[in-house]
Amino acid sequence: MCGVVAVLGKRNASHLVIEGLKKLEYRGYDSAGIASVSQGLLQKIKSEGKLVNLINKLDRSTKDKLYFDNSIALGHTRWATHGNISLENAHPLTSYNKIAVVHNGIIENYQILKEDLISLGYNFKSQTDTEVLPHLFMKYINLGNDLLDAGRLVLKEIKGAFAFVAMSVDFPDQLFVSRNSSPLAIGLGDKANFVGSDAHSIDHLTQRIIYLEDGDHALVKINNINIFDKNYKKVKRKIINIQAEIGLVTKGGYKHFMEKEIFEQPVVLPQTTSSFVRNNSEITIDLDKLGFKNKKSLIICAAGTSYYAGMIGKYWIEQIADIPVTVDLASEYRYRKPSIFGQSSMLVISQSGESLDTLMALRYGKELGLKTNAIINVEGSTIDREVDYSLYTRVGPEIGVASTKSFTSQLVILFIIAACLGKKFNNLKTLQIQKKCHYMNMLPNAIVKMLELESQIKIIAQNIKNSKSVIFLGRGLLYPLALEGALKLKEISYIHAEGFAAGEMKHGPIALIEDDVPVIMFLLSDGNEDKSISNLQEAYSRGAKIILIADKKCIVKASFAHLKVEIPHFENEFQSLLSPILMSIPAQLLAYYVAKERGTDVDQPRNLAKSVTVE
Ligand code: AGP
Repeated sequence: MCGVVAVLGKRNASHLVIEGLKKLEYRGYDSAGIASVSQGLLQKIKSEGKLVNLINKLDRSTKDKLYFDNSIALGHTRWATHGNISLENAHPLTSYNKIAVVHNGIIENYQILKEDLISLGYNFKSQTDTEVLPHLFMKYINLGNDLLDAGRLVLKEIKGAFAFVAMSVDFPDQLFVSRNSSPLAIGLGDKANFVGSDAHSIDHLTQRIIYLEDGDHALVKINNINIFDKNYKKVKRKIINIQAEIGLVTKGGYKHFMEKEIFEQPVVLPQTTSSFVRNNSEITIDLDKLGFKNKKSLIICAAGTSYYAGMIGKYWIEQIADIPVTVDLASEYRYRKPSIFGQSSMLVISQSGESLDTLMALRYGKELGLKTNAIINVEGSTIDREVDYSLYTRVGPEIGVASTKSFTSQLVILFIIAACLGKKFNNLKTLQIQKKCHYMNMLPNAIVKMLELESQIKIIAQNIKNSKSVIFLGRGLLYPLALEGALKLKEISYIHAEGFAAGEMKHGPIALIEDDVPVIMFLLSDGNEDKSISNLQEAYSRGAKIILIADKKCIVKASFAHLKVEIPHFENEFQSLLSPILMSIPAQLLAYYVAKERGTDVDQPRNLAKSVTVE
């Protein structure tokens, strides 16, 4: 989603801004732009599409030194919300070529503000909500306010979730920044300061970071930064030393980040496990911190893939610990009146730690008096900072928009939580706990074996690459995986795909079956496989192309399937308990190879953002 970078006090600031924008590319965007002040003039360049278009435009302007001879610049990658993808709607948005603003989020009351500004003579060139910001700044600066006061007056007028940076030719040594719900970090340099949507976007410039808190605004100058809270009280926010520059994460020889992230799962998942399992046998999660002093039920909130992880978590926690779990889409939880009867604790799951829906659900849970916990990958993210207790997946940056290693690592933590709760509330014996820890240690090798199915999955990918629609089926622990498999495929291949609980087919979805529609089932012999095979048979009889990814026993039973992938042999209990993690691998590989066949932009699929920071 939109990315913001600003540099103040360094020569060639616009170049440094571009370097920062490159690090935000993974978030997903559809246009980009930068603005700088040079010799008293505001310069801006924008382009549609990828950043490379902006860089090419900049290169063509090298003769015009103005674009480079600057020490203040701001830049933006835009993920369209209000207004189509166009140069006019790309940021920075300006007012009379004197004020430039870059913005992430939505100004919800922009329509009424726009009408007021138009009546005052301001001319709008874009369809964006953002354009009210530069004009409001202009209005207040024209009334004699400095940048700080103008910014405060702007804040009084706007509503919504936002993070923005404003710059004016009249104050060429200052940036006004503010955040409300959307993330924003300030980087501290030597006679220079920086702003970015996240710490990573400015870690080539500094490792000293301040995260603004909600409602904060700040005046950033070359030698000092003044931060104020929502009551205009000057505040000090903690300076965090982030790890030395990790620079641009590389693909490590793979064609796409997604491919790399799939194949590195055997290496990174032990990093997840090792934070919570000691001596290969002892779980170190603090249940009191999780809000489980007594047996209570749990509410899990998340979005997208993280939500599906939550669904699997529910199955595990109820099965292993006998604790009731409710799973809710974060975007729904916030806007209904959920009952917290019997609950003491909320668990949110978010790779980025920035999904606004999930953040809002978390805040709502706090308001309701729940103890809040989060499974997150990005340390220092907004959710990490606001939640009571964080459990880190520690799988390194995930760049591909499609979640892969973050999903399996979330599952690892959920499984460990289930085991830990099982010990406390469901009489799980030490030996059983040790076995579960042992299973975690077995996972990397098992995933290596699952990855060896690659060539067989490629054949299936060839087979379904031209399908208009694909159906995924699963039962029990593999039902949420069917949903995840469908999400993965649609996200990156743009093929319409839906996941269903196998038993639900006959209640409606079976109407979708016609000749040659691929029906993909993940199946393991767990005692219920015959039921699922009957569901498959029903689809087969109506002409569907049956694709079965299953263990040997199921493959033999469902010999009618058109295409079969037999998964390697694993110990029974390990295979059935950890089936969602094991079967994630073929689901991910399938989506990846279909997308590759179709030549789509695997890592940055159309319309999608890695960090979804609007509601
Ligand atoms: C997964 O492939 C998606 N890109 C998306 O559904 C994602 O899981 C969702 O937006 C939640 O993101 P989060 O985990 O960073 O909160």
